[in-house]
Amino acid sequence: MAILGYGVVGRALGGVLTVKLRGSVVVAFDPAARALPGRVRVVRSMPQALKGASHVFICVPSLLDGEGVEGAGWRKLAAGISTGAEHDAVVVVKSTLVPGDVTKLEAITRRRVVVCPEFLSEGTADRDILRPHRVLIGGGDKRAVDSVVSIYGKWVPRRKIIRMDAWSAQLAKLLANAMLAQRVSSINSVSVLCEKGGGDVRAIARAVGMDSRIGPHHLDASAGFGGSCLEKDLRLLCALAICLGRPEVARYWQAVIEMNDSQVRRVADEISRLAGRKGRVTLLGLAFKAGTSETRASVALRVAQQLIAKGHLVTAYDPSRPRASIDGLKIVSSARLACKGARVVAVMTEWEDFIRPNWMQLLKSSDNAIIYDTRGIVDPSHVPPATVYCQLGKTLSRT
Ligand code: UGA
Repeated sequence: MAILGYGVVGRALGGVLTVKLRGSVVVAFDPAARALPGRVRVVRSMPQALKGASHVFICVPSLLDGEGVEGAGWRKLAAGISTGAEHDAVVVVKSTLVPGDVTKLEAITRRRVVVCPEFLSEGTADRDILRPHRVLIGGGDKRAVDSVVSIYGKWVPRRKIIRMDAWSAQLAKLLANAMLAQRVSSINSVSVLCEKGGGDVRAIARAVGMDSRIGPHHLDASAGFGGSCLEKDLRLLCALAICLGRPEVARYWQAVIEMNDSQVRRVADEISRLAGRKGRVTLLGLAFKAGTSETRASVALRVAQQLIAKGHLVTAYDPSRPRASIDGLKIVSSARLACKGARVVAVMTEWEDFIRPNWMQLLKSSDNAIIYDTRGIVDPSHVPPATVYCQLGKTLSRT
C-alpha cells in the first residue's frame, strides 16, 4: 500500500492499514513529513513508495484556487504515478476533486481510479477512520472498486460501505460538509435572535436536536465555524453550481458562508463593545476547535484580527500551543499571563481547561473583567460573584 501525503488523513489511514491488513507493507511518501513511530515506512522518494504497491492512496491537501481545486493537489503526483506505479495498481483518491478530474487522472496516470472521500475530523481522526459513519467507494471499474471494498471490509461492516459512481461519491462528501456548516450557521442565526429578543440558544439546540430526524450534532452555537474543510467545500459547491449555470444553488450555499462571516464580525463587535475604547482583550483558545492545535481558518484568529484593527490590545492563550502568528497578537504560555489586565476575557475554543479554571487567580489583576463565553462551556457557578459573565446566544445572563 502506498500513501501519497502523510498529513492528518494519510497518518490515520496508514495507522489503520498496518493494523488491519496483516502482512501488507505500508509506505508513505511525503517530502515534508517526519517519520513517526509506528509501522508505516515514511520515504522521501515517490518511486520508492510506489514500487510494488497494489493501491496508491492520494491523501494530499486540496487547495481551493479560483473556481476549482488546484495547486499542490493530485496534479503534481499524477505524472509520477504514471511512471512509477505498478501497471495494475489502483489509484484511490481521498482528496477533493472537481468534475472531470477522475477522467484526467485516469488519462495521465494510465491507471484505474477509485474515489473514496475521507470523512474524518481533526482531533478524532484515528477513531473516525476505524468507526466511520459510512465509506463511499466510487468508480467505473468493478474490479478496482471491489478491491477497495475488500480493503475497507477488513474493519468496516459491509452495510456501511456504499458503492457508487466516482462523481456521486465526491458530491456526497461536499454535501455532507456543506450540511454540517449549514447546521452551525442555522443555530448561530438563532443566537442572534436570542440576544436581541430573549431566549437561550443552547436550550433551543437541545430541544431541536432531540427530534431524531434532526439529531443533536453540529448544533453548538459559536463565533462561527472555522478550519480548512467546511468553508472550502461550501465554496467548491458554490463554484460548481456557477459552472453548471445554476446561480440559485450557489446563492443558497453562499448564504451559509455569509451567516458565518456575519457571526464572526458580530462577535468581534460585541467583544469590542464590552471592552470599551481600547480595552484590553484576552482570547482563551486559538485552535479552530478543541483537540487540535490547528489554527488554519480559525475563527479566534479572525476575531483577533478584527479587534486589533479596532485598536484593542489582544493577548491569547491556547493549551495546544499552536504555531500561529498575526500582526499585533500576543500569544502567551499560560491563561494567567493572558488574562493579566484584561477588560474582556473571551472563551473562543471549547477546551476542557476553560470550563472551570481558577477565575479568582486568573482575574486577580483585572478590574471589573467581563467573561464572554462564545462556546457556552464555562461553568457559571465557578465565576466569582463580582465578575460579569456573558454567554453567546443568551440575554438573561448579561447583567
Ligand atoms: C469536518 C467534518 O466534520 C468531517 O466529517 C470531514 O471529514 C472534515 O471536515 C473534512 O472534510 O476533512 P473538521 O473540519 O475537522 O471536520 O471539524 P468539525 O468538527 O466539522 O468543525 C468545524 C468547525 O465548526 C469548527 O470550527 C467547530 O468549532 C465548528 N463547530 C462545529 C461549531 O461551531 N458548532 C458545532 O456544533 C460543531
